[in-house]
Amino acid sequence: MHSQHQGPAELIAVHGAAKRLHHIAFGIHLADLPKFEEHLKKIGTPASPAPVNGLREGLWFQDPWGTWINLTPTSPLVDAPQIASDIRVDRHLWRELPKVIQPNRLGHMLMFTQEWEKVEAYYSKALGLQVSDRAAGKVSFMAGGTGIRDHHCFGLINSTHRGFQHSSFQVNSIDAIGIGAMQMQKAGFTEGFGIGRHALASNLFYYTRDPWGSWVEYYADMDKISDAWQAKDWNELPYIWPQWAPEFWGKEMNANHESK
Ligand SMILES: [Fe+2]
Repeated sequence: MHSQHQGPAELIAVHGAAKRLHHIAFGIHLADLPKFEEHLKKIGTPASPAPVNGLREGLWFQDPWGTWINLTPTSPLVDAPQIASDIRVDRHLWRELPKVIQPNRLGHMLMFTQEWEKVEAYYSKALGLQVSDRAAGKVSFMAGGTGIRDHHCFGLINSTHRGFQHSSFQVNSIDAIGIGAMQMQKAGFTEGFGIGRHALASNLFYYTRDPWGSWVEYYADMDKISDAWQAKDWNELPYIWPQWAPEFWGKEMNANHESK
């Protein structure tokens, strides 16, 4: 899928016998490409030829568990400014709302992993991703880059084996999430939950279940972090509102549908 910006494809579907995570792509600065190449060689997971010719530009390598990672040169994306309440005077906001929602970018994805701590340590060493928060013993959220950045662009969920858990697309507002949810429902993808507000990262969300049992999220209004951020382990529910049966997250959200 190409979003509104002119960058590399954010999502690529590759034909296969069963639903399976094919690769994970991270955007990098072009100038960092030779540094990553050198660094990956040094830590024992050197760049390799892409698993499918011409799929994406940049570097390809496999993590020690066999997952393909791509580092694609691209420019960082800036979130759209929000309409401030002081310029809402004498306007009809409802008439200005978009009719069709197109996500700005793929903001993050979460992967099921085994050997959770080792995987977290590897991604931190290989890519410089930093843990921003953990749902203790369950989920690790990781941020990329430096300066002011999203609370997470990647995350790991402890599981019996590798798999895809959810991908999350950034939109501008709670209205965009609501209109996007309606768009999904009209297209026949009626199973979902939200709108709600997460605890860790504080983002607004709506999840749609895809036809293969995994989840697609629209999100907006995520916490940003700086180099001063301190990661912590938390024991909170994953959401502040609305109210759900707590076991939903264990049974439905964290069900790994990928075969071993
Ligand atoms: Fe998410």
